[in-house]
Amino acid sequence: GDVAVLVPAAGAGVRLGPGVPKALRPLAGEPLLVHAVRRIAAAPSVRTVVVAAPAADVELVRTMLAPVAPVLVVSGGADRQASVAAALAAVPAGPEIVLVHDAARALTPPELVESVAEAVRAGHDAVIPVLPVVDTIKEVDAGERVLGTVDRSALRAVQTPQGFRRPVLAAAHAAAGDPLTDDAGLVEKQGVPVVCVPGSELALKITRPFDLALAEHLLAAGA
Ligand code: CTP
Ligand code: MG
Repeated sequence: GDVAVLVPAAGAGVRLGPGVPKALRPLAGEPLLVHAVRRIAAAPSVRTVVVAAPAADVELVRTMLAPVAPVLVVSGGADRQASVAAALAAVPAGPEIVLVHDAARALTPPELVESVAEAVRAGHDAVIPVLPVVDTIKEVDAGERVLGTVDRSALRAVQTPQGFRRPVLAAAHAAAGDPLTDDAGLVEKQGVPVVCVPGSELALKITRPFDLALAEHLLAAGA
């Protein structure tokens, strides 16, 4: 394998409701992070996995993941971008392709990890998995008054894993300013072209209780 995968997993999961940090919440009896790491490690290209865990749970996460896959566990930061930066700093010499993958996308198939890695290997500096937008999208003002309808055909919903040539991601994080919600956004600011590959509905981000219920059903149905 020539790929390192960074797994930001240090978030609280506020939108999921009160409880332990989101990556540690159970899905079909196992923590979300266990599902996510098992699927990442099943992708043949993956050599290294670095998890950014909640600061108070680094040892717990190490113990929890030891039987799942060989991983490095570091302490995450105050926002997602800081957690990714902490994980990136821990990647050993070797892998020249780095993927960044949300722990919250716990059902992401190993095939999606492979297809993103393969697109980087094929020569792209930055690759993101996307899906078409299905809803009609309106732009509104502060009073919820409609300003207009956006052309949906030119929009994409963005998932992870996002893949990068290692120096491209390192340079983007070194230059990063205000925190963004994805790594491709930092790379775009550097003027680096970002290309899209088809995403997967199974790579949904478990954000609200509805998503967790959906993930339970998908797993029960064999996902
Ligand atoms: N994340 C992280 N460090 C943070 C915040 C988020 O590593 N300080 C991670 C989360 O653990 C998650 C991913 O970034 O795997 C995507 O973030 P999100 O879905 O927003 O998760 P949370 O921040 O935990 O959820 P919420 O925003 O509802 O609190
Ligand atoms: Mg968040």
